[in-house]
Amino acid sequence: MSRGAWWQDGVVYQVYVRSFADANGDGIGDLPGITSRLPYLTELGVDAVWLTPFYLSPMADHGYDVADQCDVDPLFGTLADADELLRQAHALGLRVIVDLVPNHSSSRHKWFQEALADPASAYRDRYLFRRAGPDGGPPNNWESVFGGPAWTLDEPSGEYYLHLFDSGQPDFDWRHPAVHVEWERILRFWLDRGVDGFRIDVAHGLYKQVDLSDNPPSGSQETTLFHAASMPHAWDQPEVVEVYRRWRQVLDEYDARVMVGEVFLSQLDKVARFVGADRLHQSFNFPLLVAPFEADAWRALITEALAAFAVEGASPTWVLSNHDVIRHPTRYGGGVAGGERARAATLTLLALPGAPYLYEGEELGLEQDEVPPDYRQDPIWQRSKGAVTGRDGSRTPMPWTADPPGYGFTAGAPWLPFGPQAAERNVATETADASSTLAFYRRALRLRRELTPDLGATVRWLDLPSDLLGFARTLAGRGELVCVLNATDRARDLAVVASSPLVTSGAGVFVGPEHTRIPARTAAWLLADV
Ligand code: NOJ
Repeated sequence: MSRGAWWQDGVVYQVYVRSFADANGDGIGDLPGITSRLPYLTELGVDAVWLTPFYLSPMADHGYDVADQCDVDPLFGTLADADELLRQAHALGLRVIVDLVPNHSSSRHKWFQEALADPASAYRDRYLFRRAGPDGGPPNNWESVFGGPAWTLDEPSGEYYLHLFDSGQPDFDWRHPAVHVEWERILRFWLDRGVDGFRIDVAHGLYKQVDLSDNPPSGSQETTLFHAASMPHAWDQPEVVEVYRRWRQVLDEYDARVMVGEVFLSQLDKVARFVGADRLHQSFNFPLLVAPFEADAWRALITEALAAFAVEGASPTWVLSNHDVIRHPTRYGGGVAGGERARAATLTLLALPGAPYLYEGEELGLEQDEVPPDYRQDPIWQRSKGAVTGRDGSRTPMPWTADPPGYGFTAGAPWLPFGPQAAERNVATETADASSTLAFYRRALRLRRELTPDLGATVRWLDLPSDLLGFARTLAGRGELVCVLNATDRARDLAVVASSPLVTSGAGVFVGPEHTRIPARTAAWLLADV
C-alpha cells in the first residue's frame, strides 16, 4: 500500500495541556513546558500531538469553556509561545492538532457578555435564550451532560439560556449566520499560524432541534458517555454535517490539514455520516472505551469500525483512553493484570489500518489516580455535589522523574496531586528499564512506523477459537504481519506458524514449528510466510 496523507495512519498523542509539563512553576502545565518536552514525543515515535484547549478561559471546564478561541490563556502562555511550539514541533517532524470548541463558548465570551447586558442586543440570538416554560421553570426537559438542568435563569430578563454542559458554557445558536462566519475566521486564524489540524469538540452537537421541544422520556440508559442516545433533540441533527462540508472546503485550501471529530454516538453507522472526502477526515471511534477486554467483543467492534469507516477520504481511528474516561489499565482491572491487558490491547490496535490516538501517560502504564475529594475540580463532581467522582483521576500530571513533590512536572505545587504510582511509573524510571511499558511503546511504535508503508490495507481474520483474536495484513515482500491476542487469563497454544515474534506486549511468547504459545493477557506481532 502506498502511503496516503499523513493523518490516515499517523499516531496522534493527546497532550492534556494542564498536566503535561509546567515551565513556570505555577503547578499548571503550559505551552513552553510542552515545547521543552517535544523531543520526548519524537523519541516515543508518534507522528502528531493533539493539544487540549489552551485558549483564554475562566476554566469552568478546564479550558473547554473558551472566552476567546484566538488567544492563549495566560496560565498556558502567549500566542508567541504557541507559534514557538509549532515551529519547534515542525522542525522535529511532529504535526500539531489543536482543539476547537464550536458547540459552546464561555459565559465570559464577549458575545455572551453583550447578550446578557442587553436582551435587545444583536448578540442575544447567537445563543439560545428562551422564555420560561408554562410552569415558570426551564423551557424544556433537557439535562446538562454534567448533571442538573441544561438551562440557567438570566434573572434580569427572566429568560433562560441553554448549556448542554456547565452553566459557564452557553451553547451557540448555529442557526445564526454570524456563528458560521466567526468560526470560519477562527479556522483560518489557526490554519494560517500553521496548525496541522483540529480536534472538534462535541462535533455531533452544534445544531439543536429547531423548536427545542422536550426530549422523549429517557428509555435508554446507555452509558452516560453516549449522552446523545437519551437526548435525541439536543444532538446529531441533520444540519450539522453541512458545517463540516464548509469547513472541509476551507481546510482543502491548505496542504494536508485534518479534522477529527469527537462524535460521541454509540452507533458507528451514525458516526460514519460525519466522515468522508467532503466532510471530517476522521471521527473518534468510541465504542472501545466501553467494551470489555474480550476477543469476541473486540472482533465485532473492529469489524464494525473497519466497515463503517471504509469511506473514501476518511480513515478509522483507534482510541482506548482520553481525559474524559477512566484510564484503560484501570478499566481492565488495574494492577499487574490490568497493565498486561492494557499493553496487549494497545499492540492489537497498533496493528490495524487507521490512526491510533494515545493519551498522555498511557505509555507509562498510568492507572486512574484516586484524587482526594478536597482536590477534585471537575465540574461533573461539583454539579453532582460529589455524587459522581468525575474525571480528575485521568487528568493528574505527567510524572517525568521519580522525585516528589513535583516529579519533574513542576517546581511548584501540582494543580492535582500525584498518586503513589508516580514513584514507579515515570519517564526516568521507565527509560532505564527495558521491560517497562514505556520501552514497550517505543519498540512497538518504532516497528509500526517501519512496517506501515508496506502493510496491506485489508485485515484478514484468522480462524481461531472465539476467545482468541488474530488477524493478518500483507507485508510487501516479506509475507504477512500476523497479530494475535490472547485476552484470556491462561496461556494458549494457537495453530499459527510464524517466525519469531517481531514485538510482544509481554514476556514468554513461544513460536514453535507447529504452534505459537501466547501467555495470558498478551498480544504479539509475528511475521508469517505466505
Ligand atoms: C468533550 C471534552 O472532551 C470534555 O472534556 C468537555 O468537558 C466537553 N466536551 C465539553 O466541552
